[in-house]
Amino acid sequence: MTRVAIVTGGTRGIGEAISLALKNIGMTVVANYAGNDDRAREFTERTGIRAYKWDVSDYDACQDGVSRVGAEVGDVDVVVNNAGITRDGTLLKMSYDDWKAVIDTNLGGCFNMAKASFPGMRDRGWGRIVNIGSINGQAGQYGQVNYAAAKSGIHGFTKALAQEGARFGVTVNAIAPGYIDTDMVAAVPADVLTKIVAKIPVGRLGHAEEIARGVAFLCSEDAGFVTGSTLSINGGQHMY
Ligand code: CAA
Repeated sequence: MTRVAIVTGGTRGIGEAISLALKNIGMTVVANYAGNDDRAREFTERTGIRAYKWDVSDYDACQDGVSRVGAEVGDVDVVVNNAGITRDGTLLKMSYDDWKAVIDTNLGGCFNMAKASFPGMRDRGWGRIVNIGSINGQAGQYGQVNYAAAKSGIHGFTKALAQEGARFGVTVNAIAPGYIDTDMVAAVPADVLTKIVAKIPVGRLGHAEEIARGVAFLCSEDAGFVTGSTLSINGGQHMY
């Protein structure tokens, strides 16, 4: 049976690697994206993976997006909540808008997508939800009270929903990536990033594909007994 998967933020960075990894294990993948139309068009031409545009922080847009995918592609069996943004700054400099945008997108997006997709998974008796957390949600990070709070929230959300999903055949897990060589991490000031990399025992940034392989496992049939777990993929930077 071909499973239908939605990867939020699935046309760039870690999300792009996840979209490709799920396609490679035989799933029919839809990549959601919020902003960059040119990049989405290029992604679809290159990979053959359809891209659907909506903002995961918008509750109604998630309801509409998941039902459009259901009608045009097929019932949604797998959701990977990967979409995320940063608005880094110390608390003293952080605006309310910077706080709210990160909480609404990174954490609110998980709720909105689960509300839209979980009922169908329950009805069909099978589902996979994988939420992309972060090392910075586990350990905290200077200059990221918004991001760390949202990502930490994702880890709690995962464990709570896993308990609700278990009796319906729906597993819910998280991956906590460390610092991965994406545009998001490239935006960290070079001197700060050098100090961060110096503390990674493996001695380098991670690659998006190293996260994607973990997601593919958690979404597979083989992972039916894995739920409520957090898989840390961080080069040993934080052992938790
Ligand atoms: N611990 C303690 N003190 C620190 C510190 C740290 N980790 N980092 C900076 N400081 C201190 C500085 O030494 C400085 O002190 P002085 O004024 O006494 O010299 C003070 O804090 C201000 O530091 P900055 O000059 O760096 O402050 P800024 O306002 O210019 O920048 C910042 C602050 C935006 C947070 C910047 O430091 C930064 O970008 N840090 C990186 C944040 C980060 O790691 N983001 C991750 C993005 S990628 C991601 O999130 C993906 C993922 O899941 C891993």
